[in-house]
Amino acid sequence: MAHQFSQELRRVRPSSREDAVVGLAQEHFERTLVAVGGATVGSVAALVHPRRCGTANYGEVFLRDNVPVMLYLLLQGRFTIVRHFLEVCLELQSNTYQTRGVFPTSFVEEQGNLVADYGQRSIGRISSVDASLWWPVLCWLYVKRSRDENFGTSQAVQRGVQLLLDLVLHPSFEGTPVLFVPDCAFMIDRPMDVWGAPLEIEVLLYGCLSSCCHLMELAQHQNVSRLLEQRLKLTHQWQHDLRSYLLKHYWVTSKTVQVLRRRPTEQYGEHQHENEFNVQPQVIPPWLQDWLENSGGYLIGNMRTGRPDFRFFSLGNCLACLFGLLTAPQQRALFRLVLHNREHLMAQMPMRICHPPLDQEEWRSRTGSDPKNWPGSYHNGGHWPSLLWYLGAAILLHQQLHPEADVLLMGQMRSLLDECYWSQLNQLPAQQWAEYFDGPTGTWVGQQSRTFQTWTLVGFLLLNHLLRRNPADVTLLDLEPGLPARSR
Ligand code: GLC
Repeated sequence: MAHQFSQELRRVRPSSREDAVVGLAQEHFERTLVAVGGATVGSVAALVHPRRCGTANYGEVFLRDNVPVMLYLLLQGRFTIVRHFLEVCLELQSNTYQTRGVFPTSFVEEQGNLVADYGQRSIGRISSVDASLWWPVLCWLYVKRSRDENFGTSQAVQRGVQLLLDLVLHPSFEGTPVLFVPDCAFMIDRPMDVWGAPLEIEVLLYGCLSSCCHLMELAQHQNVSRLLEQRLKLTHQWQHDLRSYLLKHYWVTSKTVQVLRRRPTEQYGEHQHENEFNVQPQVIPPWLQDWLENSGGYLIGNMRTGRPDFRFFSLGNCLACLFGLLTAPQQRALFRLVLHNREHLMAQMPMRICHPPLDQEEWRSRTGSDPKNWPGSYHNGGHWPSLLWYLGAAILLHQQLHPEADVLLMGQMRSLLDECYWSQLNQLPAQQWAEYFDGPTGTWVGQQSRTFQTWTLVGFLLLNHLLRRNPADVTLLDLEPGLPARSR
């Protein structure tokens, strides 16, 4: 448990400097905002550190880094900026044959020209898929909060949605509802053996399909079209199949693992439903026993024939709560797991990106000996303050939608969240709002970490807003159009 860290009590204690710290974070945040075409469009990934130069592409506007930025701006009612961001992204949606419909990873205005990166400029030529999946989610949340239905039903938005759906809703060799992606296609954008159907992408796909449906339904109300009706039907079905697939193949608890360990292998034909991916019991790692204890559950990192990836990925699991992919009892099983594994996941700087890190031999073979992803560092089990607010939002949204469910557990989660919030507040200003911290305890600022990282700043501000200012605002993140509570 976290109490073994020497500064534990001082770190998680409420601070009288709260207002000053929040004020400073807000000032830094305002400095991250940049303009395109003369109007504010969003934030650069990190502020240039006053004593250093050479920021690589951290001076660009990354779509994924701007997700918390746009949500924060929505909470502040700064709708014009969000709309401009969405419009600029639409303008940059690829039109070339091989990548038609793809949104860029990042963009920047250089001498009056917009330059976008679809992967051709990035280190290792990696292409991001999450940016494209996030766009409809942000667009829908913007329309829902601002009530700018004209934008939602506009030809530009509806065309963008269809182009994007074309990338997903088509026949494939697999015949499954998952989206197959190369390594490095999301926040983890360096080789980490996360190719195929990594959790974060599949959960984002679920949120994306759900948002596309809501946007198409808006258009459908205004103008009934046969084509749209067919697209809606297909998209709903795909979303439904995807959810069933993920809950069947990715969700694990102590009970399900025990079933998995005793399944037959080498099945063929009608019998293979017991072990579709022919997984040998030996691949189930022993660390799962303590990690899951008796009442925890989570979505594993990936499913591939014979080789499931049992690593725990924080963001994919938190998003599965926010998007309502996990049922309410499953969400609480996930919260229990987080509580039980607090020492690993929160440690001194919440929250760890994935667990466990690939160890030295695996690091060599599966990351290509990437020194930035050394065991316990950066994407390979590093601690990212920007991730905490997603967990916070998942807990607070659950409390809003199911106020009477397991009050004891939710009380414990709330205390955990409070302590993590104070822990960030007491450390981040002195650590210059660093991008990530190195494991195993997350005590040291990441060896190659940027400082004044935008999503560290804005993640903290979001948590401050949701925890201390207006918890009810968490419903902003609920993808369902009708409010309040619904049963899942
Ligand atoms: C790194 C991160 C990526 C992030 C980018 C800008 O490449 O891995 O997730 O979007 O920095 O902050």
